Amino acid sequence: MVKLTPPMGWNSWNTFGADINEALIFETADKMAESGLLACGYDYLVIDDCWSLKERDEQDRLVPDPVKFPHGMKAVADYVHAKGLKFGMYSCAGNLTCAGYPGSFEHEFIDAATFAEWGVDFLKYDYCYHSNIIPGEYLYRRMGLALENCGRDILFSACSWGIDETHTWIKTSSASMWRSTGDIVDTWESVKSLAAQQKALHPYNGVGCFNDMDMLIVGMHGKGNVGFQGCSDIQYRTHFSLWAFLSSPLMIGCDIRDMSPETLSTLTNRDIIAINQDPGCRQPYPLQGIWRDDNLIAYAKNLTGGDIAIGFFNLSADKATARLNLDELGLPHSTHKTLSMKEIWTQKDALIRNAHVAWELEPYDCAVFRAKVVDLA
Ligand code: GAL
Repeated sequence: MVKLTPPMGWNSWNTFGADINEALIFETADKMAESGLLACGYDYLVIDDCWSLKERDEQDRLVPDPVKFPHGMKAVADYVHAKGLKFGMYSCAGNLTCAGYPGSFEHEFIDAATFAEWGVDFLKYDYCYHSNIIPGEYLYRRMGLALENCGRDILFSACSWGIDETHTWIKTSSASMWRSTGDIVDTWESVKSLAAQQKALHPYNGVGCFNDMDMLIVGMHGKGNVGFQGCSDIQYRTHFSLWAFLSSPLMIGCDIRDMSPETLSTLTNRDIIAINQDPGCRQPYPLQGIWRDDNLIAYAKNLTGGDIAIGFFNLSADKATARLNLDELGLPHSTHKTLSMKEIWTQKDALIRNAHVAWELEPYDCAVFRAKVVDLA
């Protein structure tokens, strides 16, 4: 299937790891619908690794763990669908999944048929224990074809962590998103490192196949499977803004049954989500300036209809001033145009003088604008 804007939803891995079960999924589905997350576009609920038994059945089919999922996966899918959500599952291109459960290698078509029968709408496909002889591109094409031919629309989410030059071949499979980097953990260093690694990969992002910077850590505060030391609410807001700005899929990874008001308000900022979901999915471009260093990054992105999204991200522990010249955006003085710039999180307007903007940022904070092209007064 083709997905035209970055997928959004929730995934079990970041917080729950192997500790998943039917009750958790039902409660999470309830919460996605009740909390307003679904209304903001988070419509895929995805169960990650560790859902099956360690052995296939006599027909060689995958078997859901009967202790974790006593009513089987069709019942889980039915519950999720009844809430207006779509249901996602997980498998792997290797013999085994990363946590040691059966993978789909040499079982691609039978597994795709099983997922279709259960009512699955999304498959995350990992890369552990894959063959050293068969290239990754063959393995992802195989499962892509199996899904395209299974009789159900199933979004294919590739997870080969950007290795083996994934960016050069992933669009030859039917993947709608592809993990462009390694795993996130709940630390500020991890956010910074994933953002930096993404830099060279922007040209590969675009409509129908999105660079997946990994699940969000917003609201984890150090709890759960990839918990570590956690981040502050400001850092989570900057992380969320950056992922949204760079057109990554937005897959929530915290326990949404127990979200703080700050977490919910970060995740449901509709103006930030609108930049992520802009139908043009234009490539974000780094603003050069002459003032930047690795800890102060600035991007712009042209939006459908003529607006420009502009993001300043202060990754450092110190205050910083971000600066922008309108020249870089295609608006030199000779155009007799300027911008009207409103910052989304604070709702403050930026002052533009001599085609130049300066914006103060607190440590770890960001500023994201939706700017409109207007006549110079
Ligand atoms: C990793 C993957 C994670 C998670 C985990 C499950 O390879 O990048 O997102 O799916 O496997 O074992």
